[in-house]
Amino acid sequence: MNDQNPREHNERPVAMITGASSGIGAEFARRLAEKGYDLILVARREALLRELCNELENLYNISAEYIVAELTDPNDVNEIEEKLNESENLQILINNAGFGIRGAFHEVGLDIQTSMLKVHCLVPPRLTHIALNKMLKRNKGSIINVSSTAAFLVSPGNVIYCATKRFINSFTESLYLFLFDTDIKVQALCPGFTLTDFHTKLGIDPRTMNVNWMSSKDVVKNSLKCLEKGKVICIPGFKNKLMCFVMKIIPRRVLYRIIIKHNKRRNKSD
Ligand SMILES: NC(=O)c1ccc[n+]([C@@H]2O[C@H](COP(=O)([O-])OP(=O)(O)OC[C@H]3O[C@@H](n4cnc5c(N)ncnc54)[C@H](OP(=O)(O)O)[C@@H]3O)[C@@H](O)[C@H]2O)c1
Repeated sequence: MNDQNPREHNERPVAMITGASSGIGAEFARRLAEKGYDLILVARREALLRELCNELENLYNISAEYIVAELTDPNDVNEIEEKLNESENLQILINNAGFGIRGAFHEVGLDIQTSMLKVHCLVPPRLTHIALNKMLKRNKGSIINVSSTAAFLVSPGNVIYCATKRFINSFTESLYLFLFDTDIKVQALCPGFTLTDFHTKLGIDPRTMNVNWMSSKDVVKNSLKCLEKGKVICIPGFKNKLMCFVMKIIPRRVLYRIIIKHNKRRNKSD
């Protein structure tokens, strides 16, 4: 007779979240723990991961573990892949880890730009490959790839960033079409400016930027709502949606002129 409690460890759904030590990733961890998910959190800042795991285990009676990993290091990525492979009840994979770079393309070192290509474009497909094989066997699961409104933009100051985020959207939309007749959901989450550690890591004080900030809480709330509805491209916030829509319909020549003008004005005021 099976007299196990359904809330016991091995029956709970599992979510793996990369970049969970702060910002949007940490907020996903909070919301999924609240919903009763066991967590596998990945990032480099161990103290933050440990603290978050302890907090969520105590608050929600779930199991939370972490992997300290540098996503540009193949050995660390292997460790994550092994964990993913072992995970019996994987329901959600969130490829969220990411970062920005400041400076002109030709001036910024190639090492950091190559790291961005690895973190944004190499690791998500690798983890998705493993997750999808597991999910397809059960015809159940969700994959969220955290992109950006930058996926709809071209920007002289963010050459590689915009390109990597467009890759994420294209990758996710193609998967969506492939998975259309299954119960597996995929989403490219495209937040606009969000108050997290992202800009402070670049040495920018968010208070000095006159933009339309959203909170991680609102971004994640939007993403989970989009997931329920099965929306593949999720853009949180009305202003961000409008901006992406305009980017899609505006003639390229007009767009280039606006961006060049804006850039000249910004360079003058810097
Ligand atoms: N904030 C925004 O305005 C904004 C807008 C659009 C899209 N996004 C996207 O949202 C995602 C989350 O960023 P966030 O805004 O929440 O910023 P954040 O607070 O800086 O979080 C980024 C996360 O990624 C992890 N990470 C970065 N590089 C890593 C690496 N090489 N190896 C392992 N982990 C790494 C960081 O962990 P450790 O530092 O502990 O390793 C951290 O947990 C990113 O993909 C970003 O591009 C952000």
